[in-house]
Amino acid sequence: MCIKIRPAKLSDFGPAHQLDRISFGVDAWSVMDYACVFSVHSVKKFTALVDEKFAGFAAAEYDPERKAACLMTIAVDPEYRQRGIGSALLKHCEDAFPGKHFYLNVDSENQAAIKLYEKAGYRQTGSEPAYYLNGHDAIIMEK
Ligand SMILES: CC(C)(COP(=O)(O)OP(=O)(O)OC[C@H]1O[C@@H](n2cnc3c(N)ncnc32)[C@H](O)[C@@H]1OP(=O)(O)O)[C@@H](O)C(=O)NCCC(=O)NCCS
Repeated sequence: MCIKIRPAKLSDFGPAHQLDRISFGVDAWSVMDYACVFSVHSVKKFTALVDEKFAGFAAAEYDPERKAACLMTIAVDPEYRQRGIGSALLKHCEDAFPGKHFYLNVDSENQAAIKLYEKAGYRQTGSEPAYYLNGHDAIIMEK
């Protein structure tokens, strides 16, 4: 299995949006949200490929108000999870903003993602009750 991470291309728009829908259900982003992510140059976007096939996507942006970079989204195709691809995508996002503080929101019931972030050195710094449309709280994590 050959895993590669590269900057996302416009042709990744469809697969990335589809992966978002299967990964986040009612909290998935709209097509318009994805159009913004793909059209705004300051958003750094990465695609994971397994044997040249789309396998994951992540995006991050610098937030000048918080003077920190925000991990906007990250998802791996269910077929390829737990093989290090999420960690590799996260690392590429971090490396796109060298030396910057990072923050993110994660569903308080999403243990896989929370463990991924903890393993990468993120720690909980806050929470937002009922932040998600599914009714779950958000945990704010920072590194
Ligand atoms: C969260 C997600 C991106 C992780 O991607 P992944 O490629 O499976 O992650 P990795 O293989 O790099 O795993 C890194 C670490 O995360 C943790 N982890 C990942 N999946 C896990 C699971 N199902 N249960 C428990 N821990 C898990 C482990 O600590 C793992 O380290 P280890 O392999 O040494 O045990 C993936 O599960 C996913 O796409 N989920 C749906 C979308 C989502 O929830 N995104 C996060 C939004 S905040």
